[in-house]
Amino acid sequence: MFVQRIITKDYDEMSRRAADFVADKLRQNPELRLGLPTGNTPRGMYEQLVERYARGELDFSRVHTFNLDEYWGLEPDHPAAFARYIQNHFLRHVNVPSGQAHWPSGKGDAAENARTYEARIGSEGLDIIILGIGVNGHIGFNEPGAAFDARTGFVQLAERTRQDAFHPRSGFATREDVPIHGITMGIGTILEAKSILLLASGASKAKAIQRALEGPVTEEVPASALQRHGDVTVIVDEAAAARLADK
Ligand code: PGA
Repeated sequence: MFVQRIITKDYDEMSRRAADFVADKLRQNPELRLGLPTGNTPRGMYEQLVERYARGELDFSRVHTFNLDEYWGLEPDHPAAFARYIQNHFLRHVNVPSGQAHWPSGKGDAAENARTYEARIGSEGLDIIILGIGVNGHIGFNEPGAAFDARTGFVQLAERTRQDAFHPRSGFATREDVPIHGITMGIGTILEAKSILLLASGASKAKAIQRALEGPVTEEVPASALQRHGDVTVIVDEAAAARLADK
């Protein structure tokens, strides 16, 4: 199941190794179709990729990017919108042409937005999808109970997800501003990616990582679906790996 499991000393090393992974794949295939996460976990990876691009080591001109998910009801330039996050942390610093950067719209007709997004991802699917993990084991906004064959769609956020979404860098002014719904690539969509890279850092993720990698494959732990995929690389720091039996 897992091609690689990499345990790093700390967050910075996790970020460097994640950037190495993307850089290697990009050199092998300059036309990468890349699924991208947002949140706290990948910030350091994006910094690394931006630095390497600035040094002339990487070329994203033929890459297509696809955000994993979006809050429902936010304008794309809302401070907490994932569309804005990916611009600020990655796209505006590198040379992905704007027509090649995609994200699901969190406004309008949800079913129509989901169809449009699946069509953009297309039958060829993604080459790589990079994922963080929620404390409750979610991937994207696929919360516990989400079907493993789900496609991109409109979903309700778990209460725990809404709590964790409110923090000083979140872009939300109050806890109540965190939307109740989101639009997310489904687990079925995610599992069609050729390679999956899962990232986690910190003790708060240790239980979710253990359940995802070593627990039963169950819809109660969305990330356990990854055990059904043939090419998963897991890069976690020591704190997030602390509960793994097999290190
Ligand atoms: P985080 O979120 O990177 O902000 O911890 C991860 C997730 O909820 O998927």
